[in-house]
Amino acid sequence: MKMTDDNGRIITKERKKIGKFQIDEIYCGDAVKLMKDIPSEIVDLIVTDPPFAIDFKAKRNNYNRTQERVIEGYNEVPREKYYEFTLNWMKEAYRILKKTGSMYVFSGWTNLKDILNALDEVGFITINHLIWKYQFGVFTRRKYVTSHYHILFVVKDEKKYKFNKIEHYPEDVWIINREYWTGKIKTPTKLPLALVKKILLFSSDEGDLVFDPFIGSGTVAVAAKMLGRHYLGFEIVPEYCKFARERTKNVQLNLFRYKNGRDCGENNV
Ligand SMILES: C[S@@+](CC[C@H](N)C(=O)[O-])C[C@H]1O[C@@H](n2cnc3c(N)ncnc32)[C@H](O)[C@@H]1O
Repeated sequence: MKMTDDNGRIITKERKKIGKFQIDEIYCGDAVKLMKDIPSEIVDLIVTDPPFAIDFKAKRNNYNRTQERVIEGYNEVPREKYYEFTLNWMKEAYRILKKTGSMYVFSGWTNLKDILNALDEVGFITINHLIWKYQFGVFTRRKYVTSHYHILFVVKDEKKYKFNKIEHYPEDVWIINREYWTGKIKTPTKLPLALVKKILLFSSDEGDLVFDPFIGSGTVAVAAKMLGRHYLGFEIVPEYCKFARERTKNVQLNLFRYKNGRDCGENNV
């Protein structure tokens, strides 16, 4: 018989702890160091949106956000160290991922080259290069407005990776709106829940372990908890850790929300 936790997720005894980490927790610290303490080949799915090295200013009034409600302190990586930084965390990602596992890495176009080169160097096999098209970007005068993001879907073993084909023609361009968080405190780079849920439904099953080394506001943890997956997350900025933990606390199991290629679930948590 399958055992379940308080939230209805499938759980086994050995799953309660991963090395020195408790499952379904977000830890504050440097992901590159913390990942070294995760045992090898234990994670089913990695979904992550790493820092971009574009001197991103958290409080800049981009995407029409009211600045007072944006938490400060987003931790950026210097441009000249980006490749080394990327290589370091990706090596660990490769080691901790199961053979059946996969990873989705988000990237803007500015540092895409580093991300692609590091994925190859570490040994990942690229299955798809997805485009996430969102509805608004930053105003420009003499160039096109960026309104897309890259998502690299990569695996360790192209014969063994998990893929739940929940759509008949799963296309590689995903049009999903960014979320407005009216009247709430926000972190500056939050991914839409609908986007992360779609990834989890395609590439993991209930009871699986989903990991995000750069969890920011905790979107990957929220999506995992909603969909009956277990999660582990790291974040270097203490205020974000606190915010992500709070956000994750009240989430309820909310299965079966993806029908006919459309998300019908709660997407503003
Ligand atoms: C692009 S954001 C992630 C946003 C997240 N996907 C969300 O939906 O809120 C990247 C995050 O990585 C964090 N970060 C940067 N360097 C880090 C490191 N060495 N270890 C852990 N987190 C780090 C940043 O503070 C930031 O919150």
